[in-house]
Amino acid sequence: MTAPVLSVRGLTVSYDGGAPAVSGYDVDLPPGTLTVVLGRNGAGKTSTLRGITGFLSHESGASSGTVAVQGVVVRRPSPLRLSRLGVGLVSERDKVFANMGVGEQLRLVADRKADLDEVCAFFPRLEERRDVRAGLLSGGERQMLATALVLLRRPKALLVDELSLGLAPGVVGELVGYLRRLADERGLAILAADQSVHAMLGVADFVQVMDSGAVVASGPLADLDVDAVLDTYLGRNGR
Ligand SMILES: Nc1ncnc2c1ncn2[C@@H]1O[C@H](COP(=O)(O)OP(=O)(O)OP(=O)(O)O)[C@@H](O)[C@H]1O
Ligand SMILES: [Mg+2]
Repeated sequence: MTAPVLSVRGLTVSYDGGAPAVSGYDVDLPPGTLTVVLGRNGAGKTSTLRGITGFLSHESGASSGTVAVQGVVVRRPSPLRLSRLGVGLVSERDKVFANMGVGEQLRLVADRKADLDEVCAFFPRLEERRDVRAGLLSGGERQMLATALVLLRRPKALLVDELSLGLAPGVVGELVGYLRRLADERGLAILAADQSVHAMLGVADFVQVMDSGAVVASGPLADLDVDAVLDTYLGRNGR
């Protein structure tokens, strides 16, 4: 198997010195693959992504465990360090500047015009909406912009939190299609935490199910007993 872009071992996250919100989390993300983390509200998905990328001190949180990028252990992971190593996070909410134009935000982050053109070619709707304030975008377009802003930093691994939040099923289907293409066409290693169980299971290579801060089921999608997982951990009505 291809060496993972990102490996995490024994990640534990806690807030305010309390009981762990995440404990003993492990993952390997090979290039060109999409791993989906499922779990109910409060299961620990966001905390896991924050712990990997070092976005915890802003939340009075702390983590322990090992994060390695392309086989090299990252000492004292921080958002800046992880970003420089090629690990990008599309966070759960407040991802774009509502009062700034779409094109302006993209240009702010892009180092090279070629990157900007590439990202606009990938998300044609952003190209069309270039002169519009981000606050006037639809929910799905906002998620595209948030993803594009992270892609402009040319990550090798992409961590995506609740891309589907508050969106209609058709839009969610379009967005998860983009994730699949980013893995297939650009070789990105993707870890996506989401509550849209059915949409995510339609595109995932690997699945992890979290409950009370621990991974309770994991493996290649083909090996997963989807019905049992839905019944036991996610409730029958997984969106
Ligand atoms: N900033 C914080 N300070 C204190 N506790 C927090 C903080 N963020 C999360 N927690 C707690 O950590 C646990 C895991 O929350 P987390 O947000 O990681 O879950 P989640 O799986 O992402 O849930 P959701 O599906 O609602 O986004 C919960 O008990 C939550 O209350
Ligand atoms: Mg969350």
